[in-house]
This record gives sequence, structure tokens and C-alpha cells, in this order.
Amino acid sequence: MELKFPKGFSWGTAISAFQTEMGSSEASNFGGTDWFEWTNSEEIIKEGLVSGDKPQEGDGFWDLYEEDMRLAKSLGNDSLRMSIEWARIFSDDTSAVDGQFKRNEKGEPLSFSPTGTTLSQLKSTANRDALDHYKKMIDYAHSIGLKVFMTLYHWPLPLWLHRPVKCHRDLDNAKERGWLDIKTVEEFAKYSYFVSETLGTKVDAWETINEPEVIATNGYVFGKSAGFPPGLENIPLAFRVERNLAFAHNLGFRTLKKYTGKEVGIGTAPPYFEPVTGGEKDREVANTARYLNNEWILNAALRGEFDNNLSGTPDEKIANFGGSDYIGIDYYTRMRVEYSEEELYAGALPMKVLPCEDCNDFKWDIYAEGMRPVLKWIYDRFQLPLYILENGIADSNDQKRKRYIVDHLKALQEAIEIDKVPVKGYFHWTLFDNFEWASGYSMKFGLYEVDYRTKERRKRNSAETYERICKGLPID
Ligand code: BGC
Repeated sequence: MELKFPKGFSWGTAISAFQTEMGSSEASNFGGTDWFEWTNSEEIIKEGLVSGDKPQEGDGFWDLYEEDMRLAKSLGNDSLRMSIEWARIFSDDTSAVDGQFKRNEKGEPLSFSPTGTTLSQLKSTANRDALDHYKKMIDYAHSIGLKVFMTLYHWPLPLWLHRPVKCHRDLDNAKERGWLDIKTVEEFAKYSYFVSETLGTKVDAWETINEPEVIATNGYVFGKSAGFPPGLENIPLAFRVERNLAFAHNLGFRTLKKYTGKEVGIGTAPPYFEPVTGGEKDREVANTARYLNNEWILNAALRGEFDNNLSGTPDEKIANFGGSDYIGIDYYTRMRVEYSEEELYAGALPMKVLPCEDCNDFKWDIYAEGMRPVLKWIYDRFQLPLYILENGIADSNDQKRKRYIVDHLKALQEAIEIDKVPVKGYFHWTLFDNFEWASGYSMKFGLYEVDYRTKERRKRNSAETYERICKGLPID
């Protein structure tokens, strides 16, 4: 069998900074983020919110990036998706740095312009070594023929913006409340500006924010089960976070576009919400779940359309807001749902989620057929080119990964050929096993297995299949 993709289609794998960088040397270990504090907190570990695994015992990509990039290249990849750790660049507060914000009547920032001194102030606050290190990484990737798709923000916040343990315990008296605060949006604009000026044109394509809806739901709706900081269960707070993330995207998108001229997008992780029966009530709850989970944030971030009372229709339109050159789709799973009079999903929606039929190690349902309708829906609704920026499986014994890859790429090929959805590239999540957030090292998504003691990477069988596809070779 041969899978055929359009000319110029990008092939890659995706990783993120926090999940891969630490573990090989003192310089690789970095404690200045909310996620570091959260996963190292004895109190949070005892509460069972996180696994107890430590990110500082990880892959060591910070030091081993050359070898890792060569692995990516050896798979026949022409691109790599990675991210920058905001807090490594700015481990100190940037709020005293000048900058001009235009605001709406609620005081929310709509645009950012640097003053004559913004850049020099940011330069003197930034950590030069970290910046230079990222430059070296990008240069090395280019030197071996990998384009760099860079995510500006893949989840950890600097500690000076978010003290997650304090927020978890006592939000009312917490001072640094992360994405609940407008300050975080403003400092994100400065971070975007600084990175645009220093790394901007080196990078081949940018992503502002990875999965804003996951930050909000896993931290503020399912905080106790998903174990994301600050581990809360409060829907209004989650939508405040999503709103602020939409504002952050707006500022980041405009800044990156203006100063780099590169392709800039945003990423989202839509599951395929499938009503168990064709009955009206099942279809309705599936649609509502899909809307609240993904469409809400895309309407806000891409069009400035906010549905503040969650009625299903935006009630506020901000002019000249948002935009994107592409939408990054992180497709993993299907959620089979049905209307329920007994159960409230997230404490609010009369919906039950059925257990997975074909399960990965996370007990997520494996369902390649869901990819096509998801892509078609997003494209029909937003009319933007798409990239698959993540797709992968937690599969520690590598029994299901090969099939997963082949089936999803077949579905992708059909989405492109039959449904005419313009998908421009595919990035497998992930190159090598890494720190899977609250679950630590137990969930293994890697094409390469990692021995965390020796830092050795071992190729899994399924990686051979992915390599053949990337190289345009037939597969069985
Ligand atoms: C995230 C990754 C994560 C993966 C698997 C995605 O939502 O962007 O960081 O490792 O899912 O859970």
C-alpha cells in the first residue's frame, strides 16, 4: 500500500519544551515555571493530582538536541515542531517594561505597540544564554534540513505570573493567578514582541498558543482529575481563562505577523464527539460539547466573537481582533456521548461519555475515522488551511501505534483528496517518550523509547512505518 500526499506537504514530529528539555545537566534543569512547582509539590503529589514523577529527570533535549534532531531527520522528516519556554527567556517579571496598550472599556488589551525603549528594556531583562541556546537549536535544525515550526506557548507560565499551589489552596488571596489575570495577557504581548525581534525570522512557522481550551478545561474544569495547575473545578473561571487566552492570541498573532512576516497560527485539540444514537437529544449534547470545547475558543481567537453567556451564539463582537494563517489540529480521539438524565458532564451538561472501545494506555478511544469529519467541520467553519500539529498514541508496548499511524494517515489522505480540505502537513506526537504532564513518564507516546537513566533513545518498530510513509515508500 502507498499513501500519497500533495507536493510540498510537511512531514514531522512534535515535541514541547517542558516535556523534553530537562534531565541531562544542571543547565537543562529549570525550576522557574508553574508546572515545575506543581509537579514537584509534595502537597499536590499527596493529593494525587500529579504522578510524583519529576520533569527534571527527563529526556535532556536541552543538551541532546543535535542527536534528537538527527533522529527526526532520519525518519525522513523535513520539519520539527518544538516550543520555547517563556520562563527560560524571562525568569524575571517584565511588567515594569514600557509598552503601549490600546484597551477596550473593560481594560482588556486589544493591541500592543513597543515604545522606543521597549526592546532595550526587554533585552536587559531577558536571559541571554537561554535565547542563544534556542538560536543554536534552530540553526542546527536548519543545518540538517529541518524546518522549525515553533510554538511560543506550550503551557508552562513563569512563576512570577502563576503560583499554582497557592491558587489551588486559596485563590482569593493569591497574587499571581496566571491566565485569570490580564497581566499575563500583557506580558505575553511583550514576550511575543521580544521573541519576534530576536528569533522571529529564523523560525519557519509560528504557533502562538497550544490548545488554549485544554489549558482552561484541564486546569479549571477537570482540575482534580486531569491534574493540571491550578487543579480547580469552576466553569466560569475556565471561560475567563479562555477569554484571556483569546486576547493573548490576538496580541501574539499580530505581533508575530508584523515583525516576522511568517506563517502564524493557533492550535486546538478537537476530539470527534460522536452521538451514540442518531436521536435528537444525543446529537444535541454532542454538538454542544463540540461547540463549548472547540468552537467557542476559535470563534473568539480567530474572529473576536465571544459567547459570554454560553448560549451557543456569540453576544459580543470585537472589531479588528484575532485572525490566523492556519489552524493547527491536534487529533487524538473520539468521545462517544449520549444524553443523560442522571449524569452531568463537567457538572453542567446532561451528557454521559461512554468508555473507549479500542483503547490506548490513557483509555482514550482510538478512532481514525473521526479525523475526517473533524477536519471537514473546522475547515467548513473557518476556511483556513490546516496542519495536523499532533496525532499520536500512548502505547507502551508499541502494539497499536503502527496501525494508528497508518489508519490516521489514510483518513488524512481522504480528507485532502475527497473532502478537499487543505491540510499542509502532519506532525506525529511525539518523537521520543517524554514527560506527559500530570501523568509523568507512565504514558509513552514516543516513536523512540527513552531509557531515562542513560538517556538512550531506542527506535520502536512503529517508527519504521512512519519513516517509510515520510519517505514515500510502500508499506504493508
Ligand atoms: C498536548 C501534548 C500532550 C499530548 C498527549 C496534547 O494535548 O499538546 O503536550 O503530551 O496532548 O496528551
